Amino acid sequence: MQTLSLRINGRERSFFIEDDETLARVLREKAQLPGTKIGCEQGSCGACTVLVNGRSTMSCITPALKCQGADVVTIEGIADGNSLHHVQQSFIDHGALQCGYCTPGLIVTACAFLEKNPHPTRAEIAEAISGNLCRCTGYQKIIDAIEAASTYLTATPSPVSMPSRNETFDIIGKRRPLLDSRKKVTGEAQFTDDIFVPNALFCAFLRSSEPHATIESIDTSVALVMPGVRAVATGRDLPETFGVLPLSQDQAAMAVEKVRFIGEIVAAVAAETEKEAKEAIKKIVVRYRPIPTAFNWKEALQPTDPAALIHSHSAKHGCNLHKQAEMNFGDPSVSEAASGGALSSTMEFDFPGINHAFLEPHAAIAKWDDHDGLTLTSATQVPHYTQRALAKVLHLPLEKVRVIKPFVGSGFGGKSDPFPHEMIVSYFAIKTGRPVRTRLSREEVFLTNHGRHPTHLSLTASMDPSGKLLGTNADIVIDGGAYGSFGVVTTYYNGILLQAPYDLKHYGFRTRRVYTNKPACGAMRGHGAVNPRFAMEVVLDDLAHKSGIDPCDLRLQNLL
Ligand code: FES
Ligand code: FES
Repeated sequence: MQTLSLRINGRERSFFIEDDETLARVLREKAQLPGTKIGCEQGSCGACTVLVNGRSTMSCITPALKCQGADVVTIEGIADGNSLHHVQQSFIDHGALQCGYCTPGLIVTACAFLEKNPHPTRAEIAEAISGNLCRCTGYQKIIDAIEAASTYLTATPSPVSMPSRNETFDIIGKRRPLLDSRKKVTGEAQFTDDIFVPNALFCAFLRSSEPHATIESIDTSVALVMPGVRAVATGRDLPETFGVLPLSQDQAAMAVEKVRFIGEIVAAVAAETEKEAKEAIKKIVVRYRPIPTAFNWKEALQPTDPAALIHSHSAKHGCNLHKQAEMNFGDPSVSEAASGGALSSTMEFDFPGINHAFLEPHAAIAKWDDHDGLTLTSATQVPHYTQRALAKVLHLPLEKVRVIKPFVGSGFGGKSDPFPHEMIVSYFAIKTGRPVRTRLSREEVFLTNHGRHPTHLSLTASMDPSGKLLGTNADIVIDGGAYGSFGVVTTYYNGILLQAPYDLKHYGFRTRRVYTNKPACGAMRGHGAVNPRFAMEVVLDDLAHKSGIDPCDLRLQNLL
């Protein structure tokens, strides 16, 4: 332990800190200034930006001891009391924020930049904020806001305002600020991990090192007696399965008898501190017996020995098929017709999986009391799904489970499912009688995934010589990873959203979703629609190219 003395937002502060503590941790946990966000903790996203002696600095990779005697300004120190800084006001006026998780870092960066360069070009602004990622807003409005902020110094801005009680409904065409924008530009908006809960334990997870294996044994005896450890759990403590869809209740909070992907949670520890929980995790010993794997759709569709199936319920298919859907409207075979001068195009597509990369990592805090039951605060998009899953897994009546969604640092579908870590912190809260919290690292966020399905798609479409579309037919395989998530729905969406705005009397699709030994895929932005819609437009371009019809005309004459 060492003493760190520095000035934060104009106030002298001193803390006892460990040698390896970062400035971000000290600001958030010791100075209790959670406006400084943690998005990646590896210097990639800029969410943790603060000013150190006037320079914008990524506090997550800055050793706190390097700031001995420094002057540090966080987002909480940018406004002057009730008066917002002109950059904050400009962000509100220009709608330069949505979820607000990136906003403190961006505003701090912009303040430091405008201090040095009060009248920048747009290119200079873009360069200045290139270390700050925003996943919601797009950078156009952010650049607009920073550009305009420079003029606020010389001209009186006319900020957009909330409608007053006396105002009529004459608000069409007028800019209105996001209702919660002031909280977001000042750092007051509290996301799950920003909420201070006294006496909380921290929960850490042991994750599988094997993609597909039987668990032969788990030895938690050493972990249980490590300093600070209050509870250890394995899959056998929470064997009830859950899933977002009633049809796909195929996942347990922790692997019970086998693991299905690298990164699946095998055991968990609740301890007094994060450090102690993570130290104890290292002492859990798991013995695995590997099982043959399937890593892509081709391998998953190969005939598979029942003992090597990822889920036994796929046995009826003889391979790792999860779900198939086939629908035909009219006669989809006309998509292949080449009679009467009709043109046909068949193309194949392979789309990779994509992760949402939302800026706020998953986080959750569980509290239990015998009278009110369980309260879970979580970075979730859909509290009622989580409530139902918690009640099922923990065998609690629904009215004894309350789920709170505070500010959420974007999700794009990736925070729609109930998640294992939410079940586990809740279990520990009940078991220990103490609040239990967790926040996943960026690596754990990627291992948790539930992003867009990797997709193999073959599409055929035809049109008559005048450019009238005749029909389409598609064969689609989506790689679902190890668990169901939203996949049954995605299987249909890939087919039924394919033709979208076009007037087609004949279309059909066959879609298959397979299990593979990777993190589960689920809902992501335009869930199930983006890949097939892209494919459809490319095939239309091909038909336009072959026929010599202008691609825009081709589309216009086929619109519904
Ligand atoms: Fe520090 Fe991402 S750069 S949290
Ligand atoms: Fe930028 Fe959400 S507003 S990440």
